[in-house]
Amino acid sequence: MNDSEDREIPAYNCPICKDTGWEEVKNGDYVAMRECRCGYMQRQRIAGKLKFAAIPKEFEGHTVENFQTNCYASESSRELAAMAKTIAKNYVEQFSEIQETGKGLYFYSRVKGSGKTRLAVSIANDIIQEKMISTKFATTIQILDQIKATWGGMSKNEETEQKLIHDIVSVPVLVIDDIGVEGVKDWINERFYNILNGRMIEKRVTIFTSNCKIEELQFDDRIVNRIVKMALPVQFPDESIRTAIARKENSELLDRLLGT
Ligand SMILES: Nc1ncnc2c1ncn2[C@@H]1O[C@H](COP(=O)(O)OP(=O)(O)OP(=O)(O)O)[C@@H](O)[C@H]1O
Ligand SMILES: [Mg+2]
Ligand SMILES: [Zn+2]
Repeated sequence: MNDSEDREIPAYNCPICKDTGWEEVKNGDYVAMRECRCGYMQRQRIAGKLKFAAIPKEFEGHTVENFQTNCYASESSRELAAMAKTIAKNYVEQFSEIQETGKGLYFYSRVKGSGKTRLAVSIANDIIQEKMISTKFATTIQILDQIKATWGGMSKNEETEQKLIHDIVSVPVLVIDDIGVEGVKDWINERFYNILNGRMIEKRVTIFTSNCKIEELQFDDRIVNRIVKMALPVQFPDESIRTAIARKENSELLDRLLGT
């Protein structure tokens, strides 16, 4: 047997709990269990909440702290982005008190790709990691598709839809991404009214992103009024970071392909 075979490979990341998350504590004749100080259980809880949140892969791990404000070309864009970032940072810091009021945020800009979803998701990530509060991310289209899915096939019954709406109403923090892109139809107004009214009465926090101002949303007035009540509007720069990133990537790719 040579040296390397002889050497013991540590089998566990944490020798105390052997990666179970639980540590034995002797108390006289009794042995009690407590959460191990390596934080395994806490990490498991956060991982569970992140899975539930269904944040798109593109935005995994983003935090408010690493939201860039110097990547915008114009001075006025950088100022707007810096203001949005300050609001987001203080919102997370003061979340425990703000949550009581049920007030959310409404990020909007006419130009697409300005960083609205990026910052909204960062708030959700921070709230999960720092406050251990459940959040959920969904685009309006996803919400409507889920509702429609309860209509078809075997599961066609009112109860399934009611349960889904109830679940959407109940989640403590909901990010509704891209509100305003859906067509205006009676059934959509009806469902959004139920969701938003439910969340408003329960004082649940909702964070919206949109390409239009709240007053310009094509929903019924009763829905628009509720969003006004539920969220603080925050303007984003009319500048696309998505386009800037795409240009930079393409130019790097071109350099590589041309061997320059
Ligand atoms: N301030 C920023 N710092 C770093 N990356 C950014 C920033 N803003 C945007 N990005 C990146 O640019 C891309 C577009 O951002 P995002 O999806 O948040 O834009 P959006 O405003 O939500 O666009 P849309 O109106 O199309 O929904 C993403 O890849 C995002 O990570
Ligand atoms: Mg977006
Ligand atoms: Zn441990």
